[in-house]
Amino acid sequence: MSEVHGSAVPSELSSATPESPLQRPLRIALFGFGTVGSSVARILVESRPNGVELTHVFNRNVARKKADWVPSGVVWSEDADAVLASDADVIVELAGGLDPAGNWVRRALEAGKSVVTANKKLIAYHGVELEKLAAERGGHLKYGAAVAGGIPVIPGLEQGLAGDRIERIEGILNGTCNFILSKMEKGAEYADVLAEAQKLGYAEADPTEDVGGFDARAKLSILMRLALRVQIHPDEITPRPITTITAMDFSYAKDLGCTIRQVARAEWAQGPVAATVGPMLVDLNSPLAWSRGTENMVIMSGRYGGDVVFSGHGAGGHPTAVAVVSDLLALAHGSRRVAIPAAPAKVGVEFEVPHYIRFLVNDRPGIVAAITAALARENINIRAIVQKPGFPADALPFVVTVEPCRSSALQRALTSIKTMDCLLVEPLDLQMLE
Ligand SMILES: NC(=O)c1ccc[n+]([C@@H]2O[C@H](COP(=O)([O-])OP(=O)(O)OC[C@H]3O[C@@H](n4cnc5c(N)ncnc54)[C@H](OP(=O)(O)O)[C@@H]3O)[C@@H](O)[C@H]2O)c1
Repeated sequence: MSEVHGSAVPSELSSATPESPLQRPLRIALFGFGTVGSSVARILVESRPNGVELTHVFNRNVARKKADWVPSGVVWSEDADAVLASDADVIVELAGGLDPAGNWVRRALEAGKSVVTANKKLIAYHGVELEKLAAERGGHLKYGAAVAGGIPVIPGLEQGLAGDRIERIEGILNGTCNFILSKMEKGAEYADVLAEAQKLGYAEADPTEDVGGFDARAKLSILMRLALRVQIHPDEITPRPITTITAMDFSYAKDLGCTIRQVARAEWAQGPVAATVGPMLVDLNSPLAWSRGTENMVIMSGRYGGDVVFSGHGAGGHPTAVAVVSDLLALAHGSRRVAIPAAPAKVGVEFEVPHYIRFLVNDRPGIVAAITAALARENINIRAIVQKPGFPADALPFVVTVEPCRSSALQRALTSIKTMDCLLVEPLDLQMLE
């Protein structure tokens, strides 16, 4: 990792003290004036933080974006090339996606400018290469808003926790899933809450990135690099969707002293890494169970310092913009980040955890015996069988929990169980976080 000041910072400034008359603010060009971009502009204009100045806004069809509260000296443009070639010191990429955002970021770094971005996808897939480019060209790449929005998890790892060896990460990294699941906890069904989330602007028209776990796995892979110091390709983590969870599962989870959250977790001590993203049962006493609505939460477990919990607003224009502006201030004030080396690694081991398995069957004698036998063939011990009263025999739900086992062993048992013609839907299995 390189030092914070590079050629993106005017040379007359690098030796200047913050109060030096030689100093001029860093010139900031926003790429993308949407939810986060307009909030960043709002903070820069309203609170006028020391050392940074908004000079350019780039967006397509920019006329419809123009806001009267933005100072008249700011250049509005729909010409990315012109803004990249301008005297802006820092490009703040807030358009999102891999392309063309990645191209703008590369070109800015190649030109020796610094870049601040909230783009988790770009950083998850290309962060290593882009940081290398920044270091080669004397610029800096900062992405404190890319994971958990306004919660300073990344700065926390780069500074406050750099002295520890983090061995485990558990987090709620997607506010959309947390909104949906924490509403379902109160009895609502998935489709209804998704519709509400879309109405409130918390979920996209196509919610796959969020509910399918792809957004959380991109964020987890970034945290793994900074916390566990392992570089993995995000696609190595197979996410599981929250779409299969029903209100009934929350009711059973409650009987087991748990609730359900989308959890991203990774662990590394030595050798291969364990990493997974999906809906899981979490104990009602776990901090993860307390996070509600669009909140995010991350628990880092260090070898020396123990557990550290980060929580707060993981998304939204203003909270995310705070993280972006903080990155800009770090650049302007020359704060250094700690170089955290990360080695290439593979996701190669599974978590051995208890599982919750929910069945819906057309009842007949021998079902539990057949399930027990299939689990026993894989050396999986049953912990409990829970059946709520009041359901008809031809659509009978019940839950089996099993002692810690590997998902692959459980999948083999379930493949055999799925051949039973009494099953009305595929059994749902969820990891239980202990
Ligand atoms: N929103 C959050 O809570 C949040 C939290 C953490 C991180 N982030 C990240 O922050 C970034 C921005 O998110 P956002 O929510 O602000 O998105 P957004 O509201 O969709 O804003 C994106 C802006 O970029 C513009 N844009 C997109 N592609 C463009 C292109 N090819 N050429 C020119 N302009 C383009 C859009 O213009 P149009 O209006 O024409 O589409 C829009 O103004 C993303 O990487 C996102 O993952 C967001």
